[in-house]
Amino acid sequence: MSSFDAATLPLLAEALAHLDVGFAALPPFEPTSAPPSAGDEARLREALLALAERLRDNFPYAHPLYAGQMLKPPHPVARLAYALAMFVNPNNHALDGGRATSRLEREVVGELAAMVGFEPHLGHLTSGGTMANLEALWIAGRLAPGRAIVASRQAHYTHARISSVLGLPFDAVDADARGRLDLGALSARLSRGDVGCVVATLGTTGFGAIDRLPEILALARQHGARVHVDAAYGGYFKLIDELSADARAAFARVGEADSLVIDPHKHGLQPYGCGCVLFRDPSVGRFYQHDSPYTYFTSDELHLGEISLECSRPGAAAAALWATHRLLPPVRGGEFAARLSASRAAALALVTHLRASPDWLVPLAPELDIVVWAPLPAGPARASEISALSRRVFDEAARRQLHLALITLPTAMLVAADAAPALEADAPTTICLRSCLMKPEHAEWLERITSSLDESLAAARA
Ligand SMILES: Cc1ncc(COP(=O)(O)O)c(C=O)c1O
Repeated sequence: MSSFDAATLPLLAEALAHLDVGFAALPPFEPTSAPPSAGDEARLREALLALAERLRDNFPYAHPLYAGQMLKPPHPVARLAYALAMFVNPNNHALDGGRATSRLEREVVGELAAMVGFEPHLGHLTSGGTMANLEALWIAGRLAPGRAIVASRQAHYTHARISSVLGLPFDAVDADARGRLDLGALSARLSRGDVGCVVATLGTTGFGAIDRLPEILALARQHGARVHVDAAYGGYFKLIDELSADARAAFARVGEADSLVIDPHKHGLQPYGCGCVLFRDPSVGRFYQHDSPYTYFTSDELHLGEISLECSRPGAAAAALWATHRLLPPVRGGEFAARLSASRAAALALVTHLRASPDWLVPLAPELDIVVWAPLPAGPARASEISALSRRVFDEAARRQLHLALITLPTAMLVAADAAPALEADAPTTICLRSCLMKPEHAEWLERITSSLDESLAAARA
């Protein structure tokens, strides 16, 4: 059985022939590279097979036994649509370079905006979450020059870096015991009167924690600060109900933020190169205005380069997302949402398994589909021993083809956990295990995952 889905490839040839009809009026032309001569074809084949060989050097990201970092395989429709659009290779900077895909981009961005409740909106796709967050913080800086950006210590590390690139002061405030931005710390920081924008993360990278958006909105408004929601990973979970009351309350209010980032290349089934930034007030588009004497000629309609910091951007990314939305609309109750529910169910089932055993410690209940847990030594537990054991379990699991991730937590979080054993905090931080159960297949593979985990712990303790 193949690890990769090749069965859909004939559809690409069919769709390509269909696309070709649209250009049938052109005089015949032979591209220099196709069809290749016999010698060319052999060289092409050699290059591709050599690449396939090199690509074997990867973890099996698409397989359910890959349960480590935040990686999710694109849906076949996204792969095919991206490949199809690449034959045109449109550039969504301007309608001149990507007319059809610019329109597709505006449609999909509108659908994402409707999903989060940004109506009206201004937004576009980006190369990923970092670029999307950069644009949101850049606008925050343009509206409140010199004022600080504030985020929790659990926010993505790029917020500090982006602020430094933008020349804006940045402050990290503490997180609470559930890994959420601490409201007391935020209130104290806001009362200094120099904060321009608070970043609320809905789905932190480490644990999937959900910052308390309703309270953050109230505090930020009280102090005249903007609110930017980083939902790069967690945003799509707005579509499902199987979340804690706090998480649901946060997602219910995202439409009130000033800007929001969501990454279709995380939970949106897209290949890398697809983030999205949204603004609730379309008039921020004025900050993007530029004059270039050589770009926009074919239409007075909006060119996406007029509302994006990047110039060239792949129209193929918009095409892939558009085809995915057509097949699996990002709406409540649909098939796309059911896939998220399966990931969430897998995370909860893993936690149930771990909590049923004295061998593991789960310091905090997962809010989405990321689970963090610690293996416990057979005898009394010391933080440094847990760290060493986590590394051994990680290696033993990899030997059994189960691929996990690691995370460094403040030891205090383990000590404070419900049902924590007496634990000697001989180090300020402790290495734990982490799994992003982002594939719906994880739910079906859970028994295999948990039995491999238990075996890995037994081997690591031996
Ligand atoms: C919450 C959050 N924000 C931002 C990013 C950065 O996104 P990207 O890696 O697409 O640049 C990530 C990446 O994991 C993330 O989890």
